[in-house]
Amino acid sequence: MSLDIERVRALYPALSDGYAWLDAAAGTQVPQPVIDAIAAAYSAGIGNTHGAFPGSARSDAIVTRAREAVADLVGGDPAGVVLGPNMTTLTYRFAYALAKDWGPGDEIVVSRLDHDANVRPWVQAAERAGARVRWAEVEVPDGELPAGQYDELVTERTRLVAVTAASNILGTMPDVPRITARARAVGALSYVDGVHATPHGPIDMAALGADFYATSAYKWSGPHIGAVVARPALLETLRPDKLASSPSEVPDRFETGTAPFADLAGVAAAVDHLADLDPAATGTRRERLLASMTAVEAYEQAELAYLLKGLSSLPHVNLVGSPRRRTATAYFTVTGHTPREVAEHLAANRVNVWDGHCYAWELTRALGIRDEGSAVRAGLVHYNSRSDVDRLLNALEDLPRR
Ligand SMILES: Cc1ncc(COP(=O)(O)O)c(C=O)c1O
Repeated sequence: MSLDIERVRALYPALSDGYAWLDAAAGTQVPQPVIDAIAAAYSAGIGNTHGAFPGSARSDAIVTRAREAVADLVGGDPAGVVLGPNMTTLTYRFAYALAKDWGPGDEIVVSRLDHDANVRPWVQAAERAGARVRWAEVEVPDGELPAGQYDELVTERTRLVAVTAASNILGTMPDVPRITARARAVGALSYVDGVHATPHGPIDMAALGADFYATSAYKWSGPHIGAVVARPALLETLRPDKLASSPSEVPDRFETGTAPFADLAGVAAAVDHLADLDPAATGTRRERLLASMTAVEAYEQAELAYLLKGLSSLPHVNLVGSPRRRTATAYFTVTGHTPREVAEHLAANRVNVWDGHCYAWELTRALGIRDEGSAVRAGLVHYNSRSDVDRLLNALEDLPRR
């Protein structure tokens, strides 16, 4: 099983602009079938949902297909897929809903490895409810989140454990099954942030032990749509604020207002695209996803090894973190240059990277770099080529030594 990288790259119109797009951890480009699916939805004519005419039925079908696709991608139940504008907004929504029955004496556990979107909504909801917030700490400088600390942190008082499946700056993949097992053992719920992890390998939210699994389509070649997946029976227990007039069944009760239906058509097309990445993959879409994403993981890990070796060989480049299990994401500083200067130099050399804290607000502070502009992030996905990596390394080599 393997990827034909040239075939894959040819599917993405944006990749032909001459830039090395190494900003995937901030958002991916979109392949032609996704663009076509969005355009086709508009061309066919789409009405609002639950109406009496065909254009409305088309929107109903688009929503159903988007839920089925996301469920296939993460190993969930389509009836438990909540769609929304992005992970942050959905997480605030779930934090409000879950915290309705938290109070003094209750505790939640968040981690300093996480993107702020899986921290602040919980911290603020806990503050409002009078619940206590406990923090899982990151080992510095390697950037691991030791799972053993959850044995102490998670107690009979714990209501929720929020943890990431992968750090969006260091790539660290903590031992999520162990952490969620600890939560389950005391009757607490787990909310796993899969936004960074999802594009980098096969995902099985049951194997992760996640009660809630959050993901964002724009990180895996889809449009700007977020999703949170949970067991329908669990969603049934929650009462989010909603209009009296809007549907009260699950999962619709979590979705406010009118959805971007054409973009949702793009979500299903993006999942189909991922499923077809390995042309040798066969079977159901879920089976093809597992095979294709396994091939993606192998491809990306080889490119990551090459990238890390290259970065380590540059004396003026300082890698941040050295986690054992990680996605194809590198975070580094360059001696004598601010992260923004490095990013500008790379942009001038047609290499797109991100600089700054990347919303890893607690982690960049724990690493002691947040006040200095943090660092530079190069994030690879399945469409990045060896030549993209070489261009990054060559441009870094050219930076004046200070
Ligand atoms: C790990 C992680 N979590 C959460 C988010 C926030 O996702 P969204 O932009 O969908 O709100 C991001 C976005 O960069 C992320 O990388």
